[in-house]
Amino acid sequence: MAIDKKFVDQLVKVTSKAALASSYLVGKKNKIAADKAAVDSMRSNLNNLDIQGEIVIGEGELDEAPMLYIGEKLGTSKGPGFDIAVDPLEGTNFAANNLPGALSVIAIAEKNNLFKAPETYMEKISTKVNEKNVIDLDFTVKENIYNLSDYLNKNPENLTACILNRPRHKKIIEELKKLKVNIKLITDGDVSGALLVTEEKYNVDIFLGIGGGPEGVLAATALDAFNCNFQGRFLFKTEEDQVRAKKMGINDLTKKYELNEIITGDSIFCATGITPSDLVAGIEIQGNDFVSETLVTHKSSGLKKVIKLKQNL
Ligand code: FBP
Repeated sequence: MAIDKKFVDQLVKVTSKAALASSYLVGKKNKIAADKAAVDSMRSNLNNLDIQGEIVIGEGELDEAPMLYIGEKLGTSKGPGFDIAVDPLEGTNFAANNLPGALSVIAIAEKNNLFKAPETYMEKISTKVNEKNVIDLDFTVKENIYNLSDYLNKNPENLTACILNRPRHKKIIEELKKLKVNIKLITDGDVSGALLVTEEKYNVDIFLGIGGGPEGVLAATALDAFNCNFQGRFLFKTEEDQVRAKKMGINDLTKKYELNEIITGDSIFCATGITPSDLVAGIEIQGNDFVSETLVTHKSSGLKKVIKLKQNL
């Protein structure tokens, strides 16, 4: 069944208000306060919606997060059942330091259609090429680049790969350099990073590397609507991580997940800019109003666009 389009408007308002709440803390060097402002706003506005929502990706498990924890029920219980994934402030460093790229993000799917992801790292790969055996997490960097180069009919030196700038990516970055691929290094914010493959205008052909698992699931929802490809493999390094995963029903701890194992059926994705980025503008206050930009996808209706909204403060 399709998710009613009215929820697009409602969710855009939820992420816009969370982005506004967090925007007051931009540049205050306080990641926790900026995150809390977004969490509080998002939670209270989700609770006003006529839905039977359950958080499947949130601020952590109940023992770590009092709000928007995995399993928390949200909404008035009057409407349809939804799985909800949230990242009220994606890019806490960006917000704290007034840097481009801070977003407020939500994805919803019909009940039992969105992966319940634990707070752990995930090895990820995304491209616009939605064909089997071109790009794969199990291929080497070289194989992936050569396959992509053949498929897109572009030389490796005309391809661009986006990757988080982290010491753990040293080998991948060296390999990309050797292959003469252009590298777009990002300091944080790999939901955006993964989404840069969705449109030609961003000039990114492949996103790869290790980032947050929850961020991977959120990005996958939008990538699905853009008909792009995504694969992810959770990395359960500590024993604690492994126990947690098993508790959440993940038995094969090394499984590679395809996009359609992370999200199925209809979905809505909303990412509102707190500070400006490649995807959307940041929050702008104009007198008694504020203007927000939200990247929205709604799979069943084919909606994929940036919605600009002016609302009262
Ligand atoms: P926060 O908003 O929680 O600070 O996450 C930012 C982020 O860059 C994510 O986009 C990314 O998935 C993750 O951190 C990477 O983690 P790490 O900084 O530990 O490499």
